[in-house]
Amino acid sequence: MAVGTAHAQAHPNIALIKYWGNRDERLRLPANSSLSFNLSGLQTTTQVTWIEDKSGDSLILNGREARTDELSRVIRHLDMLRSHLGIRGYAHVESGNNFPTGTGIASSASAFAALTAAATSAAGLHLDERTLTTLARLGSGSAARSIPAGFVEWHASDAHEDSYAESIAPADHWTLIDVIAIVSTSHKAVGSTAGHASAATSDLQNARVAGAERRLTQCRSAVLTRDFAALAEVVEEDSNLMHAVMMTSRPPLFYWLPATLAIMAAVRRWRTEGLQVCYTLDAGPNIHCICGPEAAAEVRNRLQSISGVVDIRSAPPGGGVTIERLA
Ligand code: DP6
Repeated sequence: MAVGTAHAQAHPNIALIKYWGNRDERLRLPANSSLSFNLSGLQTTTQVTWIEDKSGDSLILNGREARTDELSRVIRHLDMLRSHLGIRGYAHVESGNNFPTGTGIASSASAFAALTAAATSAAGLHLDERTLTTLARLGSGSAARSIPAGFVEWHASDAHEDSYAESIAPADHWTLIDVIAIVSTSHKAVGSTAGHASAATSDLQNARVAGAERRLTQCRSAVLTRDFAALAEVVEEDSNLMHAVMMTSRPPLFYWLPATLAIMAAVRRWRTEGLQVCYTLDAGPNIHCICGPEAAAEVRNRLQSISGVVDIRSAPPGGGVTIERLA
């Protein structure tokens, strides 16, 4: 017997101050607070139906039966929701992205934000935004930041209830554009979850975490005052620090390709020429060029002529998760 169906949509987000490493792996309590904005136009759409007399959870991903590893991560999340919220039965989940997965555009963020929102709504629950962010966080840390709208801060804490995300400014506060230079579409070799687990093996992680609060304060203030020059400095510093930790972890994680480094150098040069652009990279080789409102078209043009760039996507800040209960 079906007990409820709901549909949710969430955007991925790009972190300006990064989450890398957990103080508690099981609860995904991050080593430091982080700050991001949602990426409009890129989205995960997920439908969940809870069925009481079903024999297990099922998952259709981008129109095909999910792989075992994909299904087991979703089952772990559904188990957590069942036990936290007293939901009975099994879920049928259908989910799709309108952007490539595993390439540095964080698909797990929008995936677990949409899954959490659809699954709880399908079970007839109306959770407040803060609670939704904590539950999404248990599936994928950065998913907490895809629930609220616009520019979002996720607070580090030692307690599950206090490690939540909240909007610090709406999407239309500042029309930054994330121009994403895709230099590889192959699935990354080491995913974020394994990367977080190895962060503490780098001698640099403690130093990165110790300075994270200072960088977050600088970044928040640059966002709130729309100060691009201040934003650029702190965003690049924070991304470089995370990649320094990655490269010095045991075993080391090198995500950059030759084209990645070429674009990072070009972006810094373009900024000295007066273009409002800076770079940030997640756990992958693709480069997120964060542009001021007037610079995006020119940055896109210039990226097109760099060898190794196979695709370019552009995304302005986007809204939060949307939920529709169908039955
Ligand atoms: C480099 O949230 O994908 O994109 O919690 O294991 O799912 P899990 O990790 P995830 O990590 C994101 C790491 C990052 C930086 C960031 O988005 O803050």
